[in-house]
Amino acid sequence: MIFSCSENRAEGNLVSKIGKGNVVAALCCVAVGAMLATGMGSLAWGQVATVAATPPMGWNSWNHFAEKVTDADVRSAADAMVTSGMRDAGYVYINVDDTWEGQRDAAGNIQANSKFPNMKALGDYIHSKGLKFGIYSSPGPKTCAGYEGSYGHEEQDARTYASWGVDFLKYDLCGLRDLMDKQDIQKANAMMRAAYVKMHQALKKTGRPIVYSLCQYGTDNVWEWGAEVGGNLWRTTDDISDSFRSMALIGFSQAGLEKYAGPGHWNDPDMLEIGNGGMNADEYKTQMSLWAMLAAPLLAGNDLSKMDETTKSILMNKEVIAVDQDRLGKQAYRLGPLQTWVRPLSDGSKAVAMFNFVTDDVPQTITVPLKDLGFTGPVHVRDLWEHKDLADVKDTLIVTPPKGGVVMVRVWAKK
Ligand code: GLA
Repeated sequence: MIFSCSENRAEGNLVSKIGKGNVVAALCCVAVGAMLATGMGSLAWGQVATVAATPPMGWNSWNHFAEKVTDADVRSAADAMVTSGMRDAGYVYINVDDTWEGQRDAAGNIQANSKFPNMKALGDYIHSKGLKFGIYSSPGPKTCAGYEGSYGHEEQDARTYASWGVDFLKYDLCGLRDLMDKQDIQKANAMMRAAYVKMHQALKKTGRPIVYSLCQYGTDNVWEWGAEVGGNLWRTTDDISDSFRSMALIGFSQAGLEKYAGPGHWNDPDMLEIGNGGMNADEYKTQMSLWAMLAAPLLAGNDLSKMDETTKSILMNKEVIAVDQDRLGKQAYRLGPLQTWVRPLSDGSKAVAMFNFVTDDVPQTITVPLKDLGFTGPVHVRDLWEHKDLADVKDTLIVTPPKGGVVMVRVWAKK
């Protein structure tokens, strides 16, 4: 079976949180072309250029630990980030997602709950490993999991985060939607943007560089205004889950969003599921490759303390990471209807990822004329998963990726 746009539209998982008026469907295929009429225009970049100059890389607690995450889990993720070699491969953020929050004290200061005895000490521990500390909150009174949000306490919370040494904030719409629902759609959207600006300004006021990650599931064309409200990244979709179907629906629906990404401001198709067990190695290579092509944040979502060698080799494929982190910051575009994606890189080469997203046992040969990639003569080709140079190609790339898998190459014009 081949995933089609109509299936994407029908995917309950993708639309469940967004409800009426959602724009996830608009992400797919033809509809995307229409969305692209609006340019970036002049943006008031909220963050200094060095914040998220390349897509943030790290780990987030949600996909594996969800609401069970504890201080000990986070510390052990930090330990494993170093011992596994992931830190040296570029993964630096250790992000605590929802369910760390406790009550506010009499002065309104947010406290962590009993799972997190001392957030400042946790931040210090993470920093002592040469890593960075990320946290989660909501512009609403409550977070998605029903914990305390930042509504009405934005400046105070930003100051608290800075005092804990926080380097990254994921700000998840959730609870604010209850208040937005009482408004008409225009007022609701204005309210949402104002809430994101408010926390952005609060973060800026702390004087600490804090990566600002917007999470509102890709509604209201967030890619068109995410940077204006100070976002360094913005989720373009609803939540990913650990299945090929969820990953592929999200990843392949990103076509058309490439013009909105660049240094300091990235599209975020949600976190990695690599190593969580719901997909096979070829499918996880597909996620790693596609996310790197998309210049997506690479936030591992597995239990780093229990990684097998296959998981490590996928997460730490340095040649694929180099594509994700390329300083030019150009997100890949999809070439034609098949799943061939092309990403221009800073040294003049191009990354080309050719995916077999057919889920029956049908070999799928993919043929890509070099002229379609913008090359006029022969090219040098390197396979980024096999880690080897292939024979030079004169006019057409021909590959047969495995079922659910990918062939990802880097291509240089021959001098
Ligand atoms: C939402 C977000 C997830 C995660 C949970 C936590 O669903 O999209 O990534 O942060 O909230 O409650």
